[in-house]
Amino acid sequence: MSASTSKPIVLITGGGIGIGRSTGHAFAKAGYHVVVSDVLEHEGKAVVVEIEKAGGSAEFQPLNVRSTADADRLVADLTTRFGAIDCIVANAGIAHKVPMSDMTDEKWDETFDIDLKGMMRVIRPALPSMKARGAGAIICISSIMGIAYGWDEHVHYSSAKAGVIGFIRGLAVELAKSGIRVNGIAPGYIRTAQLLSEKHSLGPAGAEKAGEFIPMGRIGEPEEIADVVLFLASSAARYMTGQTVVVDGGLLVGRY
Ligand SMILES: NC(=O)c1ccc[n+]([C@@H]2O[C@H](COP(=O)([O-])OP(=O)(O)OC[C@H]3O[C@@H](n4cnc5c(N)ncnc54)[C@H](O)[C@@H]3O)[C@@H](O)[C@H]2O)c1
Repeated sequence: MSASTSKPIVLITGGGIGIGRSTGHAFAKAGYHVVVSDVLEHEGKAVVVEIEKAGGSAEFQPLNVRSTADADRLVADLTTRFGAIDCIVANAGIAHKVPMSDMTDEKWDETFDIDLKGMMRVIRPALPSMKARGAGAIICISSIMGIAYGWDEHVHYSSAKAGVIGFIRGLAVELAKSGIRVNGIAPGYIRTAQLLSEKHSLGPAGAEKAGEFIPMGRIGEPEEIADVVLFLASSAARYMTGQTVVVDGGLLVGRY
């Protein structure tokens, strides 16, 4: 719990749209003060308004996870104001379609910088105060494309998301005795701007068609990831660390 509010604090990266936005709503409903961070200011501020309208507590903080200085500054500000951050949801990510024949060092590095190093940037500065308190929950969003599938023309994305799983495992062990738990989620096909992009992913028609080979018969909704994030943050998951939970409507176990 924080020093200046009775509510626990959650910091969400990429909280303006999609899974991040739904996660903000879920945590607000559960009584957290939600720090919505994103490069999308308009969308992030709109989430804060929605949460407040629903009776919750939230604030928007601009953050590009590519900036170490900005991540350090934001975490320092939150730590000063609240004592420590109770939960970090490292969610910000991009998934651009680039065949290996067109891959550049810049594109590869951009994806890793956001999807993997971006997580480290917000988590690292939060650890001293979490350790001092002996508590904390960290949840990183990977993907089925990192844990099981190979995604053609998204090799950089699959690689970064596989890296997220290693990050979760290593950090979980390093922090286990500090009372800080580190877990992750590997979402399947979830209805967000990322999935609905014609250019980079399935697009709207492809997303609906995906339902045909998903055992539960449909793609997932962002709220269905948010609820599992909230579970991983909660004391119900108090003996779990280092795990990446697949939330995919049965896709991985059912496709044979
Ligand atoms: N939608 C899916 O089917 C799916 C499946 C598996 C994993 N994921 C993962 O879930 C997470 C959320 O994705 P989503 O589907 O909600 O996508 P989305 O495109 O709707 O949201 C991504 C969010 O990340 C933010 N972001 C991008 N670059 C950023 C940066 N440099 N700094 C800060 N924020 C940045 C965006 O502004 C946006 O708010 C991502 O890590 C994504 O890879 C999504």
